[in-house]
Amino acid sequence: MNSSPFFAPTAFNAGEFVIRAYKPGDGAALQRAATASYKHLRPWMLWARPDQSVEESEQICRRAAARYLLNEDFTLGIWLGDELAGGTGFHLRGGPLELRNAEIGMWISGARAGSGLGTRVLGALLAWGFTDWGWERIEWRCDARNIASARVAEKNGLRREGTLRADALDVAGARRDTHIYAILRSEWPGA
Ligand SMILES: CC(C)(COP(=O)(O)OP(=O)(O)OC[C@H]1O[C@@H](n2cnc3c(N)ncnc32)[C@H](O)[C@@H]1OP(=O)(O)O)[C@@H](O)C(=O)NCCC(=O)NCCS
Repeated sequence: MNSSPFFAPTAFNAGEFVIRAYKPGDGAALQRAATASYKHLRPWMLWARPDQSVEESEQICRRAAARYLLNEDFTLGIWLGDELAGGTGFHLRGGPLELRNAEIGMWISGARAGSGLGTRVLGALLAWGFTDWGWERIEWRCDARNIASARVAEKNGLRREGTLRADALDVAGARRDTHIYAILRSEWPGA
């Protein structure tokens, strides 16, 4: 821990895709991807709605950009050229920034899901996260029934540390279990 300012990295170019902080003007791309992906996202993402407007999406992007600059939360878009292919982020749900714990969340658009992109994006986030960001521990949580999400974590070497029983609600309002996966900097093969 130290008291020097933390300047969060804002973009990672993985060649095939770019992961970067949202900025003003991204709202239309977010609206297109989120609305077209509604059926795909709805079982797992409580925020998914069929009718998100461009204005609402723009507000989400600007709020995310503001919180990013304040080091409150690091929400990121996954870009294939001008197409938003999904969203991700390093979230400070496991303590303050100084603790260097991040939780990664992710969604891949319906059009791009199932082609290995989520697996490759998590791999890129680990490489970026354990180098430029300096995270010590990276966590991934998923509904215990979300096989695709669990596989993305496992294929990137995250270890399942446990399962919280009936700790959350699913979209239908039923209680459901959460798997917790994590990887430490020392366990990452690129360390
Ligand atoms: C979960 C998600 C991020 C995975 O990304 P993806 O690009 O679709 O995943 P990949 O193509 O890299 O596939 C990863 C693994 O999941 C499996 N998988 C993909 N879609 C699946 C599905 N619908 N059902 C079961 N397994 C699936 C793949 O077969 C692969 O596993 P394998 O190598 O053992 O065959 C994406 O599907 C998504 O956005 N889902 C909806 C939102 C969500 O659940 N987010 C995660 C919240 S924790």
